[in-house]
Amino acid sequence: MTALLDLIGGTPLLAPSTLRLAGGADLLLKLEGHNASGSVKARPALNMLRAAQARGDLPPGRPVVEPSSGNLGLALAMCCGALGIECHLVVDPRMTPYSKHVMQMYGATVHQVEQPDEKGSWQGSRLARARRIVEEQDALLLLQYSNPDNAAAHESLTAAELIEQLDGRTPDVCVVGVSTGGQISGLGRAFRDAGLRTEMVAVDVQGSSIFGGSYQAYRLRGLGLSWWPGNLDGSVLSRAYRVPERLAFRTARVVARREQLLSGGATGAVLSVALRESAQLGPENLVLAVVAERGDRYLGQFYQQSWRVEHGLDDSLAEPDWLAACLNLRPLEGDWRAGEPR
Ligand SMILES: Cc1ncc(COP(=O)(O)O)c(C=O)c1O
Repeated sequence: MTALLDLIGGTPLLAPSTLRLAGGADLLLKLEGHNASGSVKARPALNMLRAAQARGDLPPGRPVVEPSSGNLGLALAMCCGALGIECHLVVDPRMTPYSKHVMQMYGATVHQVEQPDEKGSWQGSRLARARRIVEEQDALLLLQYSNPDNAAAHESLTAAELIEQLDGRTPDVCVVGVSTGGQISGLGRAFRDAGLRTEMVAVDVQGSSIFGGSYQAYRLRGLGLSWWPGNLDGSVLSRAYRVPERLAFRTARVVARREQLLSGGATGAVLSVALRESAQLGPENLVLAVVAERGDRYLGQFYQQSWRVEHGLDDSLAEPDWLAACLNLRPLEGDWRAGEPR
């Protein structure tokens, strides 16, 4: 017998059948969409709740609140429902109707902000509303961007699983999408502590300003932020990329068609970079990439041609120009770590 929350973790490591480049590195994909709630975020959601309970910060009856329109929100709604905790999620209008519906079905209260903040960031605007809910209801704000129990979930659980699954092989490169930094920092620290010489490669989306530049609105969900988050440990990063969302969506569609793997735009960005990284290496090398979520939520979004046309993002799946676009990606140059708080 298995309880719902036991369906978090233990995700498979997939050897894709068509993505490996001739002469390039071997590629393995950690399928985090297999977690209950459909994404990697089930791990930090559960760990942040359990750690808060263990510290006495979340006594029975105290609600939690979090600004999340995406995977963490879905995961928290699920975990809170299973643990009997009242859950408030602050979302913005870019969220898919599917996510809002599922959060509500799991029993969460969904609060929607209608305007971005003065920097144009929806995250900032959602955070301000979440802080109001803290004041009004004495709710516990989990704050995934800086909560160490987010990265700790990956440092202990995800990394240990991976090391076991790799069965003695060391990835030369590990490619991970970045928003709070929890995944890449947790994995990077654990690999370093285990003595693995794995280069951690961060993937962000064009428009996000984590690694510098000015913030510009984008539609891809799951990656990016308008500031350097507390959970992002610059000391583990070897390099970083910013992928155009058009390419990310296209890669996700190619991968759905070629591998029958339905993921999100964030995964499209990660796999675009994984291909470029694998082309830089040889067949004796290994690139590991995290597929952070399932893609069914995006069927009415970028997987749909009418949506892509409406947003000026339609393009064909024809190769080889798709592959050339991936291989032409370049890591960021200059002081891309400048935003890290010292
Ligand atoms: C699909 C997807 N990929 C990557 C990330 C980034 O993970 P992290 O917040 O651990 O940096 C997220 C975060 O929400 C996500 O939803």
